[in-house]
Amino acid sequence: MSSQVVKLVAVPGDSANSQESVDPFRESSIEHLGLLGLEAQRQQLDRDGYTVVEGALDDAFVETLRTRCTGAMDALGQDSAFMLLQADPIFAQALLHPVAVAMAEYTCGTGCIVSQVASVRKRQLTTRTSATDLPPYADMALHRDPYPAYSAMMTATLTLDEWTPGAGPSVVHRGSATLRRGYSKLRDTAERRAITCPRGSIVIWDGAVHHEEAPRSLPGERVSLHLTYTRAVYRPYEDYRDIQPQLVAEHGEVMAGLLGANDPFGKNTPRGHDRSKMGYAVRVRNS
Ligand SMILES: [Fe+2]
Repeated sequence: MSSQVVKLVAVPGDSANSQESVDPFRESSIEHLGLLGLEAQRQQLDRDGYTVVEGALDDAFVETLRTRCTGAMDALGQDSAFMLLQADPIFAQALLHPVAVAMAEYTCGTGCIVSQVASVRKRQLTTRTSATDLPPYADMALHRDPYPAYSAMMTATLTLDEWTPGAGPSVVHRGSATLRRGYSKLRDTAERRAITCPRGSIVIWDGAVHHEEAPRSLPGERVSLHLTYTRAVYRPYEDYRDIQPQLVAEHGEVMAGLLGANDPFGKNTPRGHDRSKMGYAVRVRNS
């Protein structure tokens, strides 16, 4: 990646004053983030479940990335587009942004994998009945409670427009990742914090943090690119996709489940998730 594509702005950290004991499994990732000037953001991610790195993208890159995102969504006639690595080389540059990768390795481990590269466009709303008006949730929604103690998923959102209170920012429930559970009204005590930042920022949140989407009251559109990374462990050693239809035809539904044919993983299309397979995953989540 050329230095014209992204710029890194060191933000003063406070590691010198930190009394934190270092997790030996994460030592190299912690050191890497420190070298990038992101110690303060790392500590905020641990404490609050989210953080923001401002000034991470230069204007020309933001402009081109926004054009490519809107182009992909326009081509589909919808306000989201998925599987963008196949749409344009610029999305690979975004996915490899050193801040996003360093944060993903810290959160999901070295060797983490890409789960989803998706763009979202939020338009001005006149009512609160919209697909963008989702109830609170965590990105690890398909995990059962309690979540593992370690993080399994992280999202880095590249802001291609300014996030102000009226722009329709994402709203995090501060510190909710420490609950290690999905959202529940019964445990809903966390402070809501609307994330505001300039365009060209990278907003990072842990897959366990509860969050929601504020409606956009301003005219115009808010376009963003969401990069989701996951821990690499839950994948099979063996790949039977080539003979999956034959095995399912011969052996039925139990075999289909064992081969991962019923779940939503690996089933995204440019239009998004496979809703019926997502429903299957929700149904079996607590089993
Ligand atoms: Fe989310």
